[in-house]
Amino acid sequence: MSKRSEWTWKTSDPAVNARLHLKYEPGNWGDVLKGAWLVPVAREIAQQRQHRSCAAPLGQHVSKVTCPDSSPGSYLSPPTPVPPALDGGIVRYLDPFAGAPSYPLLKASATRLELLPAGEHLERLRFYTIKGEWPSCALLARDTLRAHGAVPKLLLFDAHAQARSSWSHTEDAEVIECASGEYLFEKRRRKLLAPDLVLLDSYDFFDRWGGLLSALESIARDVPVLVYVFNTSPKGQGHASQYLRLRKKLAAAAKANGPILLGRLPYDMHCPQAYHEVLLLAPRIFTSALRAELKANSEELARRHAGASAFEVIQ
Ligand SMILES: C[S@@+](CC[C@H](N)C(=O)[O-])C[C@H]1O[C@@H](n2cnc3c(N)ncnc32)[C@H](O)[C@@H]1O
Repeated sequence: MSKRSEWTWKTSDPAVNARLHLKYEPGNWGDVLKGAWLVPVAREIAQQRQHRSCAAPLGQHVSKVTCPDSSPGSYLSPPTPVPPALDGGIVRYLDPFAGAPSYPLLKASATRLELLPAGEHLERLRFYTIKGEWPSCALLARDTLRAHGAVPKLLLFDAHAQARSSWSHTEDAEVIECASGEYLFEKRRRKLLAPDLVLLDSYDFFDRWGGLLSALESIARDVPVLVYVFNTSPKGQGHASQYLRLRKKLAAAAKANGPILLGRLPYDMHCPQAYHEVLLLAPRIFTSALRAELKANSEELARRHAGASAFEVIQ
């Protein structure tokens, strides 16, 4: 399993490779699946925040309170902040493994885009892809939160110095100086940070979830946590056992705290030796509200992925 940490993925432009420090192709099916979950999660957070802000004080009838309009408007113009809700509508979200704000749009990812279903996720991606970019999850979250009336504040870290400095011109993004992404979970545990959403895509969660899972479980009792897992279980017995141990832990966490949602796509169309998975650990109010939509999004992507790999003309 250790070979994975040595992966590097290069674009055709050597000038950007050192800066991007990529280990995988941006805009792969894993990124697509993550985005298809993240957009509804961010929208739900913004909407719940707005309902909470608009809720009448105890005893007052809710219909007397007027909320700002939260219609998302046109996705192809920059997401315009709608008037924030009464408490300022600030939604703080934490990405301790943030990477760069966006990546060059590659031919394979542009082709993949053609396979995606119409809807808010695709439109948010298009805002970047028409400029030749693929957005990070942090920017997708930001745009979705804004479009639904929230005021996003991104708290981030990345171990790679160039990735960190690439955020310096991004409005409302704060790089937290620390030793590692993991340390931010410790800060959260000590209540030095209070995010409303946590994103985790560390590349190697599958290999080292043991040290992270209890921190994530504890955060998810209060706020949603969206995790990407590169599940390599088809690669051999050691990988399969690692996955089964993770499943056991997740089942125990779900029993204690409420359902955990999981979405899955095969890693590769031609030679699927792994799976892309996303996990949503969150308070029940989120998992109940999002369960049907996330199931539908995952199933639709799986149908399109399988359809596109079912027949080929090799010539
Ligand atoms: C998969 S990429 C991030 C993708 C990004 N979160 C997104 O969804 O668009 C993983 C990132 O984690 C960073 N990383 C690796 N180990 C880390 C650590 N211990 N602490 C913080 N960042 C780390 C890498 O430099 C890389 O940029």
